[in-house]
Amino acid sequence: MPWESFGRTVQSAIYRAGAFGHRPEVPTDGTQLEEAARKVMSRRGFAYVAGSAGSEVSAAANVAAFDRWQVVPRMLVDTTERDTAVELFGRRHESPFLLAPVGVLSMAHEDADLAVAHAAREQSVTQIISTQASVPMEDIARTLAGSGHWYQLYWSSNDDLVESLVSRAEACGSDALVVTLDTACLGWRPRDLDLGHLPFARGEGIAQYTSDPVFRRLVAERVAAGSPEPRPRPTPAAVATLLSMSRNHPGDLRRNLTAPEPRAAVETFLDVFSRPSLTWDDLPRLRALTRLPIVLKGILHPDDARRAVEAGVDGIYVSNHGGRQVDRSFAALEALPGVVEAVRSSGSSMPVIFDSGIRCGADAFVALALGATAVGIGRPHVYGLALAGAEGVSEVLRNLRAELDLQLALTGCTSLVDLTPERLVRVG
Ligand SMILES: Cc1cc2nc3c(=O)[nH]c(=O)nc-3n(C[C@H](O)[C@H](O)[C@H](O)COP(=O)(O)O)c2cc1C
Repeated sequence: MPWESFGRTVQSAIYRAGAFGHRPEVPTDGTQLEEAARKVMSRRGFAYVAGSAGSEVSAAANVAAFDRWQVVPRMLVDTTERDTAVELFGRRHESPFLLAPVGVLSMAHEDADLAVAHAAREQSVTQIISTQASVPMEDIARTLAGSGHWYQLYWSSNDDLVESLVSRAEACGSDALVVTLDTACLGWRPRDLDLGHLPFARGEGIAQYTSDPVFRRLVAERVAAGSPEPRPRPTPAAVATLLSMSRNHPGDLRRNLTAPEPRAAVETFLDVFSRPSLTWDDLPRLRALTRLPIVLKGILHPDDARRAVEAGVDGIYVSNHGGRQVDRSFAALEALPGVVEAVRSSGSSMPVIFDSGIRCGADAFVALALGATAVGIGRPHVYGLALAGAEGVSEVLRNLRAELDLQLALTGCTSLVDLTPERLVRVG
């Protein structure tokens, strides 16, 4: 398929199928997509994905921020041939989209991260594998078969575990290491709190840990020391949680049901998950651990961006975690121009990745015009996953790529280089 016709080809295929009575199973509109996913997801699953911190105004602000920018189309430009490719850390990406790291995808679909990997490969979009994934990174990398991925690190309080996770990421072929800085602890999330539901406490989303030799050693030591965890009364809820922990733990289910390791693994995870004491002074240690490019995720202030450049990192990722961490946070898009200005005026050409609030191709257009090098797709791909597994994720990515391509064609742009702030006006 010639690249220049990608958007039209996708659009025509949808209309052609429609002529024979087939409507897309995965809605092309972001709001409809979320609503369709809500209908097929469990209450807990949807709350975990759609929910955000406190009053949830940060998440709403992320989306609303795009309405303050409008696109100014230019005419009589030959846009027959368009190119949405971008190069990141030595690899050519067909489009500026990345799959943002999202944990506990098993809440959306049983094929979880492997389904996302199939779609990532099909759509030539780089998957950022989460530390809270439902599947060990090696299995995801195998499914990706060399098509490129990054690894997202939550910096554990245990140094040996950090080292082990980083060396596994290198060994399984990650192109970059994304260190998420905004999760010193979990945000206050009323939807999850009101359901009393934390997936990790049920053994979900800790596959990177239970597959890790250092973590397994910590669990074994905990078990050998005698489990300090009191045994809960065998209520139906406690039995369901035990079953979930045992299912999610490696090894034989029947053995897991009576063994101490699944519960000890959850408790160990809760102990080592994050390192609230992390500061800029810790970065050189990470630099010394790996030759992979390091990207700092969660940067929102120009001074932090300047500090990151000085620290010698290789990329910056502007994000407020989809509004899931800080309540009443300002929109990530509002932070983007200041961070880009700080990075570029420091003389750095490093990539500035952006996520939080992108729901359509035009949103990506705006973020790229404001200086993002590439954009992460978060919740929309999870909704596609919930609706139709790997094909659902593929469809979400295909639609975003097609929409961005058509947006270029209709605004007189032939490549991402054309996307500059002059393409936009700010209204309000
Ligand atoms: C259910 C869910 C789980 C997430 N898990 C992670 C994670 O494990 N690591 C991480 O760095 N960010 C995580 N994020 C944040 C995303 O990477 C991204 O920043 C966010 O989804 C962007 O907001 P948006 O989806 O509203 O566009 C998660 C987001 C969601 C919705």
